[in-house]
Amino acid sequence: FEVSWDAAAADKGGWSSFMAKEVSEQPEAIANTIRGRLQDGQVVIPELDGLDDLFVGINRVIITACGTASYAALVGKYAIEQWARVPVDVELAHEFRYRDPVIGDDTLVVSISQSGETMDTLMAVKYARERGARTLSICNTQGATIPRESDAVVYTHAGPEVAVASTKAFSAQITALLLLGLHMGRVRGTVADASTDVAELQALPDKIARVLNEEQEHVAQLARWMADTRSVLFLGRHVGYPIALEGALKLKEISYIHAEGFAAGELKHGPIALIEPGQPVFVLVPSPRHSALVHSKVVSNIQEIRARGARVIVVAEEGDAAVLPYADEVIHIPLAGAMFEPVLAVVPLQIFAMALATAKGLDVDQPRNLAKSVTVE
Ligand code: G6P
Repeated sequence: FEVSWDAAAADKGGWSSFMAKEVSEQPEAIANTIRGRLQDGQVVIPELDGLDDLFVGINRVIITACGTASYAALVGKYAIEQWARVPVDVELAHEFRYRDPVIGDDTLVVSISQSGETMDTLMAVKYARERGARTLSICNTQGATIPRESDAVVYTHAGPEVAVASTKAFSAQITALLLLGLHMGRVRGTVADASTDVAELQALPDKIARVLNEEQEHVAQLARWMADTRSVLFLGRHVGYPIALEGALKLKEISYIHAEGFAAGELKHGPIALIEPGQPVFVLVPSPRHSALVHSKVVSNIQEIRARGARVIVVAEEGDAAVLPYADEVIHIPLAGAMFEPVLAVVPLQIFAMALATAKGLDVDQPRNLAKSVTVE
């Protein structure tokens, strides 16, 4: 490990930790990532000007990353497939190049890295290039190695992230992937009218600010009550699934609590055996306006775990009355389009992990055994 954390170089600006500061900076991080990339109701990413060839004539996209960035990648899979109509696979960078993957010049390999220096991800990008793939990186650090090794780069403008556990870089990575999906959709002719999605993007910063204002204290209180909890499970479906994985990772990283995220539909194939009375389970409930069917499936998952005594903490859209009878706690997020919900839903999970670690007296910025940037393989 190389620890690239430099306390002296950064300033907490009155916050109790860098993580608290960075969680609160998310409205700005998203606004800065969107800025200059919307034009007349369309997404136009200036850095990709003249690079339409990256997106036309490809048969496949592979998104590669490690850790938190790999969960942003999973959200990106749903968005790019929906908008650009091209199959997308997500590969952990350290698995990718050790198994002779099927890639060539019809493949676009998108890498995601906050630092732009993660060695596993860098090696995956180099490998993809050697095999003739087109490469694009999503990165938060200007001029870092990974963007220099890629054909193109879309920067997230989240600002420097100091806390080891990634927060604002994650929401900015999802935002960049949403922008990329809509940009690709326009170039490939699969998105004719992006005006609704553009309006959703523009509304995101204010909606995150609302989650922070309205739910921060509620979620922190919940975490303090749960400071002795030994295990927490997270369930999500569709784009809620990667958020369940990320919620669990945040808890592991900074609270040292056993946590696992599952796809809600997988519950009956195994994880439901873990449910015993008092087991806390976060459930990310998708809006019923996106799909009544998907919503009802998640609600029936909640009923199944509730019947076995789980303590159910629901993250649901404001006004979703269907979940109320089965939830011990409800955390509300504002209404948003299906692809945009993850950026809002992750915020309470970040706050929860941070408040729980704080309640346990842990250093949230520098968790044991972890480094912000892992520059060895
Ligand atoms: C390390 C950090 C994680 C991060 C991962 C990828 O393991 O501890 O928080 O998600 O690296 O980092 P990157 O800079 O490539 O996004």
